[in-house]
Amino acid sequence: MTNIKDTGLIQDELLIFEQGGKGRRGYSLPQWDVEEVETRTVIPPDLLRKDLEGFPQLSEIDVVRHFTRLSQWNYGVDSGLYPLGSCTMKYNPKVNEEIARMAGFANIHPYYPEDLSQGILKLMYELESFLAEITGMDHVTLQPAAGAHGELTGMMMIKACLQARGEKRRKVLVPDTAHGTNCSTSAVASYQMVGIKSNERGVIGPEQVAGQMDEEVAAIMVTNPNTLGLFEEHLSEIAEIVHRKGGFVYCDGANLNALMGIVKLGNLGVDVVHINLHKTFSTPHGGGGPGAGPVAIKNELAPYLPIPVIERVGEAYRLNDDRPQSIGKVKAFYGNFGVLLKAYVYILSMGAEGLRRASEMAVLNANYLMRRLKEHYYLPYDRPCMHECVFTDQFQEKHHVSTLDIAKRLIDYGFHPPTIYFPLVVKGALMMEPTETESKESLDRFIETMIAIAEEAEQNPDLLRQAPQKVKVRRLDEVLAARKPKLRWNAPSPHPSLHRGEE
Ligand SMILES: Cc1ncc(COP(=O)(O)O)c(C=O)c1O
Repeated sequence: MTNIKDTGLIQDELLIFEQGGKGRRGYSLPQWDVEEVETRTVIPPDLLRKDLEGFPQLSEIDVVRHFTRLSQWNYGVDSGLYPLGSCTMKYNPKVNEEIARMAGFANIHPYYPEDLSQGILKLMYELESFLAEITGMDHVTLQPAAGAHGELTGMMMIKACLQARGEKRRKVLVPDTAHGTNCSTSAVASYQMVGIKSNERGVIGPEQVAGQMDEEVAAIMVTNPNTLGLFEEHLSEIAEIVHRKGGFVYCDGANLNALMGIVKLGNLGVDVVHINLHKTFSTPHGGGGPGAGPVAIKNELAPYLPIPVIERVGEAYRLNDDRPQSIGKVKAFYGNFGVLLKAYVYILSMGAEGLRRASEMAVLNANYLMRRLKEHYYLPYDRPCMHECVFTDQFQEKHHVSTLDIAKRLIDYGFHPPTIYFPLVVKGALMMEPTETESKESLDRFIETMIAIAEEAEQNPDLLRQAPQKVKVRRLDEVLAARKPKLRWNAPSPHPSLHRGEE
């Protein structure tokens, strides 16, 4: 009786190791038509796996129910609005998945020779040219497996180019509104990071850059639109300042979902830009798994592109490894093809007009949210935003309610919380990105919930401080979870399934 709780549909699911019973099977095999032999008599003992203590024995329905229940605890963009700012939890159209599962794509092996891989080489070559067109750049590599990986690839190309020029520059300028990975990338690429302070409009001004720019600076890394959801309106002027002193302009273009068909970053003096396919081209969010962060560059950096480079020779496509100035390989084979394919399908299914409309809708939705919530939550930069907007908990502070409490209360209302405490440039940030696919009804439901929470903060702040209450797992000790994660299951002794006897 100990596991019985009146939690309604939120079942208290045991670990799979704690379920089942001795002798239960998830399969049935036909009668043997050969003589049964003891495994140990035919397989050398050093190759035999030892018995795993507590290895679960389950029926098919046990397994199906276990994983179905776990999947139902999950919150995804297919279950509801997912306003995680900067992460762009964008809906992934099902046609992308369907095409990616077609046997001709799903079963292709990276060791197939070039002449049997012409279809996928053509597809990747075309995807490179679509991305070059959308960003206004000259060449693209599709290899990097994530946005941050793309940043490193881009910075390595800049470094190789400077080395070829015989220059040893040590610094990279990074504004306080840049994505956190920009700082890490400049450090991993062995540069000293020099911070640039944004101005009262939440963007960087040419004068701040001019004040820091010298012949020691290899590049500036600008996130545009930046992490406040604002367009870096002086980028062209800043690029001129940086170029005049021989530096490069790296643009973190992960937020290209606000700009497609409207602004070509290449026209603003950008030399390198990476793109997060999941944020803009509707591929699944990598979440540490296989993703793609293609990098687009200007001609000057072309000799340093990672190998292999896909080339078109007449009607054929080939992979060229013979590029002596290349920074080398950054990923096995040619990147995560399945992800690239989904982005390709998205671009073709949307068309140029559709992509532009997606960006327009992303910006419209974020501005609608911003306008309707700004009376209820403090808006540090009160001006039109791009694809996301950033509030803070300043109005709620007097009731001793924090950003964390607001985020946790949203869970009680059935929403995934927005990104919190990022960007660091504002205190107590609540960063919201609705994306283009949310309808007005869905946005209104979220807005009304946020307004209700702001009212609760005044009238019953304890409700927020104790949230979430309507979920299986209440407020966690996040520091403990991060510092001392419990990643290994240890069999209780004796194992519970063994108690239940033969079934
Ligand atoms: C603006 C920006 N830059 C860089 C990144 C890093 O990308 P990734 O998580 O794929 O490494 C992200 C994350 O989504 C981002 O939003």
